[in-house]
Amino acid sequence: MTAEPEIRALNDSQIDPVVQLWRDCDLVRPWNDARADIEFARRSGAAEVLVAVTAEGTIVGSAMVGNDGHRGWFYYVAVAPSLQKTGLGRRLIAAGEDWMRARGVEKAQLIIRDTNVKVRGFYESLGYGVQPRVLMARWLDGRPLTP
Ligand SMILES: CC(C)(COP(=O)(O)OP(=O)(O)OC[C@H]1O[C@@H](n2cnc3c(N)ncnc32)[C@H](O)[C@@H]1OP(=O)(O)O)[C@@H](O)C(=O)NCCC(=O)NCCS
Repeated sequence: MTAEPEIRALNDSQIDPVVQLWRDCDLVRPWNDARADIEFARRSGAAEVLVAVTAEGTIVGSAMVGNDGHRGWFYYVAVAPSLQKTGLGRRLIAAGEDWMRARGVEKAQLIIRDTNVKVRGFYESLGYGVQPRVLMARWLDGRPLTP
């Protein structure tokens, strides 16, 4: 039997492969510098990029988790297309929730782009529900809001 991928914190040599995974999963947008997001998360002390790694060292999944001092957040949740629907996404979310619990976080949240509604079923099957809120945002350098 093939061993399940291990979930652990990203190391420096895994940055390029995880960004490629995010591209393969259509999570990268031109206005978000994925490498800068990783650097910012890792040096903040309040976030971590968790990756799922096969026995051969291939990155096949990720979940960036953060604690904003009030809630826990998920970003860049991704599973390699060839391994989707095999339970790895569920394990990544569980690992992220453990990371949050260990830091006293009581509630996990995430944002789904309205163009990615199909992913809602994934989170619903893990016990997540839609909360009727309006997300408002502003770039602090004053540039116009991106989609
Ligand atoms: C979303 C994603 C991470 C799910 O990972 P996955 O490994 O395929 O999910 P799992 O196999 O762990 O599925 C867990 C449960 O969710 C369900 N599920 C998974 N994808 C689903 C979908 N698109 N619609 C409905 N249910 C879904 C599974 O059937 C399973 O339910 P079950 O345990 O009751 O059988 C993966 O599809 C992905 O990387 N998508 C592209 C990137 C993306 O959109 N990320 C989310 C950004 S918000």
